[in-house]
Amino acid sequence: MKVVVPAEHNDGERRVALVPEAVAKLIKLGLEVSIQSGAGVSANHDDNSYVTAGASIISDGEISQAIKSADVVTTVRPLPIPVAKSLKRGAITLSFLSPTNNADEIKALSEAGVTALSFDLVPRISRAQSMDALSSQALCAGYRTALIAAERSSKFFPMLMTAAGTVQPAKVLVLGAGVAGLQAMATARRLGAVVSAYDVRASSADEVKSMGATFINLNLETLEGAGGYAREMGEERAKAQQDALTPFISESDVVITTAAIPGRPAPILVTAAMTKNMKPGSVIVDLAAESGGNVEGSVAGEDVELATAGGTVTLIGCKDLASQISVHSSKLYAQNVVSLLTLITKDGEVTPDPADEVVAGSAVVFDGEVRNAMARETLGLEPLKKDGE
Ligand SMILES: NC(=O)c1ccc[n+]([C@@H]2O[C@H](COP(=O)([O-])OP(=O)(O)OC[C@H]3O[C@@H](n4cnc5c(N)ncnc54)[C@H](O)[C@@H]3O)[C@@H](O)[C@H]2O)c1
Repeated sequence: MKVVVPAEHNDGERRVALVPEAVAKLIKLGLEVSIQSGAGVSANHDDNSYVTAGASIISDGEISQAIKSADVVTTVRPLPIPVAKSLKRGAITLSFLSPTNNADEIKALSEAGVTALSFDLVPRISRAQSMDALSSQALCAGYRTALIAAERSSKFFPMLMTAAGTVQPAKVLVLGAGVAGLQAMATARRLGAVVSAYDVRASSADEVKSMGATFINLNLETLEGAGGYAREMGEERAKAQQDALTPFISESDVVITTAAIPGRPAPILVTAAMTKNMKPGSVIVDLAAESGGNVEGSVAGEDVELATAGGTVTLIGCKDLASQISVHSSKLYAQNVVSLLTLITKDGEVTPDPADEVVAGSAVVFDGEVRNAMARETLGLEPLKKDGE
């Protein structure tokens, strides 16, 4: 069966869905792999490295035809709508595909009669860990936030004792201790900063400590949701958290925000008022800027200067973070693709089993039917009836 990898079409996207070592693994599964010429270049893989791994190269002029006849199309970002419409009935797509933010793409995939598996939805069970691209890419993004903060901070991260005097380490506060937040903490710690962190989930305190950071206990109700995710909070709880966090923000040189609620815009954790007493020259790095931002006023891909009592602080709205480390983010993503394809391939035939928990969880669309409940709600479709209803 034919697996096709078109070049990513979004500006700023430097990742590629398959790297050469992943191509070799798919060929061992009995699949044929073709990749659009130049698709891997921004992740440092030229066409020759794919040919050596056993793939064939498709020219820009031939890619539309190749996609039309593909059995599997894999990308990082969702396929553009015209491309989704051109897929053959029964084809399978593997990519990120948000059930709430990609309604038009999902509609096109459904009308084309395909099965669309989304890495946004892989269930968090141990069997599926190697397919968890949300985690692999969050790891890359969290690492980048700490490096951006260190580069943009006007202070050293480590403590330094020099002949010219002693420099105290930077104080870094990380809000949100998921995969990205924990990696931001670990990276800031490796650079020598003093790191503290807060998260709404009760279980996060131990995870924060294991990174060598201090957990801030605000003595507020914890908000544990299903699948290890956080629950959305009410207005009163949000206000209490903001009030309690303000003094910690004031004394930080760097604030990194990494909080997300799946399928919802990012919650505002830091209002402009909370930054008023930060020291001038401090930086705030908002990892969640692309999904609305955790910090009031943040704009993805832009710096915003916030006025404080003594000057300004810089609010950095992050964009395409995982893409900025494209060699390793592509390597990890490609392994996630290989693991998911391995699960659904038998004797060289890609046949996803809808009864499999991983397939059922990640299928936004199965054989043309929109199966995901959130996607159905977004598209204004009736909920699917459960067996026996
Ligand atoms: N296979 C698995 O079992 C698996 C895979 C990945 C992650 N996890 C775990 O799931 C948990 C969530 O990780 P994630 O990276 O997906 O999280 P995420 O990207 O959904 O959110 C990032 C973090 O923000 C926190 N958050 C949300 N709202 C907040 C608020 N208002 N204030 C402060 N913090 C807030 C969340 O609790 C989470 O820790 C972690 O414990 C992680 O280790 C498990």
